[in-house]
Amino acid sequence: MKAVTTFPLPDAAVALLSQVATVAGPDGWRGELGDADALLCLLTDRVDQALLDRAPRLRVVANAVVGYEHVDVKACAARGIVVTNTPNVLTEATADLTWALILATVRRLPQAERSLRAGEFHGWGFWDYLGGDLTGATLGIYGMGRIGRAVARRAGGFGMRVVYHSRTPLPADDEAALAVSRVGFDELLAASDVLTLHAPATPETRHAFNADALRRMKPGSYLVNTARGPLLDEAALAEVLRDGPLAGAGLDVYEREPAIEPALLQLPNVVLLPHVGSATRDTRTGMAMLAARNAHAVLTGQPPLTPVPT
Ligand code: GLV
Repeated sequence: MKAVTTFPLPDAAVALLSQVATVAGPDGWRGELGDADALLCLLTDRVDQALLDRAPRLRVVANAVVGYEHVDVKACAARGIVVTNTPNVLTEATADLTWALILATVRRLPQAERSLRAGEFHGWGFWDYLGGDLTGATLGIYGMGRIGRAVARRAGGFGMRVVYHSRTPLPADDEAALAVSRVGFDELLAASDVLTLHAPATPETRHAFNADALRRMKPGSYLVNTARGPLLDEAALAEVLRDGPLAGAGLDVYEREPAIEPALLQLPNVVLLPHVGSATRDTRTGMAMLAARNAHAVLTGQPPLTPVPT
C-alpha cells in the first residue's frame, strides 16, 4: 500500500505508516496519487473531483487540520473514501492564540512595538500607547464548539462577562459551568466589547459579518477572527475600522489566503497574523500524528479515530 503526504511528517508518523505502507511525498506528491491508498493533506490542498480522479485507489483523506471546507466530502463519500480531521488536539493552542490576539489588539501591542523600533520611545509617556480594558467588558463568542468553549473558559481570568451565539445551545450545565449565556445575533453585535469568531466556514456562515452586521457592532468594540476568513467581508471590515464603529480588529485568517485585503494593510488599528492559531510544536506534531493514526486505522481495516461527519 502507499500513503502520500503533501507535507513533511514527523519521524513517528512515518514509522507508523511504514508498518503498512510505503510513504511518498511531500516532494512531487501529485505525481504519486495514481496508486495512493491514503492521502495526508492540509487546508492549502484542495481535494476536489479532479484530484480524486487522479487517485482511483484512495481509501482515506487524512486531513491534518480541523477545518475541512477544502475537501469535497460528498465526492469522497460517493467514492467510499473516508475523510478525517484533527479535532481536540489543537483546541487549547488555538484558544491561547485567540487570547494573545485579543490582548495584542485591545492593548495595541504591534503598534507600540513598531513605534519603539522606529525610535519613537522617548521615555515613559503618561498618555502614550493607550488601549482598552478587558475587566468588566463583555466578550461575545460566535460559534460555541470546542474552541469557542476553550476561549470562554479563559475569559473568567480576565474578569469578562461572556455571551455567545451559536446554532445549537449548550446544555444548561455547560452554560452554568462556563458562566456564559446565549444571545441572538443582534444582541451579540450590540453587546460585545470584544467579539471573537469560532465557527467553521460553511455556506451558512459565509459573510455572517458583512457590512450590515459590522455596522451594528458596539461603538469602540473589537473583532477577532482566528476561525476562517470567509466568515467576514474583509473590505467591509476595513470600512468600519476606518469610519467606525470598530476600534480595532485582530485577524489570523483571511478570505483569500494568502492574499490580504489591501485596505486592511494600510490601517493601523488591525493586527494581522499569518494563520498561526495552532502553530505550537506539540500541537502541530499532535495534528500530524492524529492524521497518521487515522490513515493507519483505515488502511488496516479499523474505524478511523476522528472521521468528519458526512
Ligand atoms: C487550522 O486552521 C485548522 O483548521 O486546523
